[in-house]
Amino acid sequence: MKRKVIISPSILSANFASMNKDIAAVEKAGAQWLHIDVMDGHFVPNITIGPVVIKDLRKASKLFFDVHLMITNPEKYWKDFAKAGSDLITFHEEANCDKLKLINEIKQYGIKAGISIKPGTGVSKVRELLRHLDLILVMTVEPGFAGQVFMQDMVPKVKELREIIDSEKLNCHIEVDGGINKDTAKTVAAAGADVLVAGNSIFASGDPAKAFKEIENSAN
Ligand code: DX5
Ligand code: ZN
Repeated sequence: MKRKVIISPSILSANFASMNKDIAAVEKAGAQWLHIDVMDGHFVPNITIGPVVIKDLRKASKLFFDVHLMITNPEKYWKDFAKAGSDLITFHEEANCDKLKLINEIKQYGIKAGISIKPGTGVSKVRELLRHLDLILVMTVEPGFAGQVFMQDMVPKVKELREIIDSEKLNCHIEVDGGINKDTAKTVAAAGADVLVAGNSIFASGDPAKAFKEIENSAN
């Protein structure tokens, strides 16, 4: 059975002054997930949004909130993001904390847990965590900014993860984030990714609904 590839539009590229409109556009086009990038100006050289924004978005949308924490201290802040209404919290392997403990805490709270790896981090770093995870996020750009170019050399990492996850029959999504458009979507879906984040290619396109559908069609 062919797996359905989910497209998770990243609001980092949406208009923060008319967020409702941008979210409604992708929701109407069939989106079920929404990717929310949290940056602390320390783990990455950019600052974005905090729990207060997610709390208000939660009131306005029923989408699955896919929250990507690019922060130095996820163990200190994850619960604020959980309480605000996240459905999935992904933190970084490169953050200095007890990963398994944090995964278990997030899951015990009743939501999904994911880990992300930066381009320089190999699969071996998360190999033993995969069976505990709901999602592994492979960065295909250096985290920090939308609109960067997809790193083709990350594709083997996706393939390697797909082989492990399938051979061990694990229940773990493979998400890819950075530079996804209708061409790269095809490539990563063929490599085994089943959740694709797309920021600029959707929200900077002028027609988010149309762009969402094109990427979804291309990945499936
Ligand atoms: C980058 C963020 C991404 C970003 C993707 O650090 O994690 O989610 O919004 O944007 P695009 O799709 O434009 O590369
Ligand atoms: Zn992201």
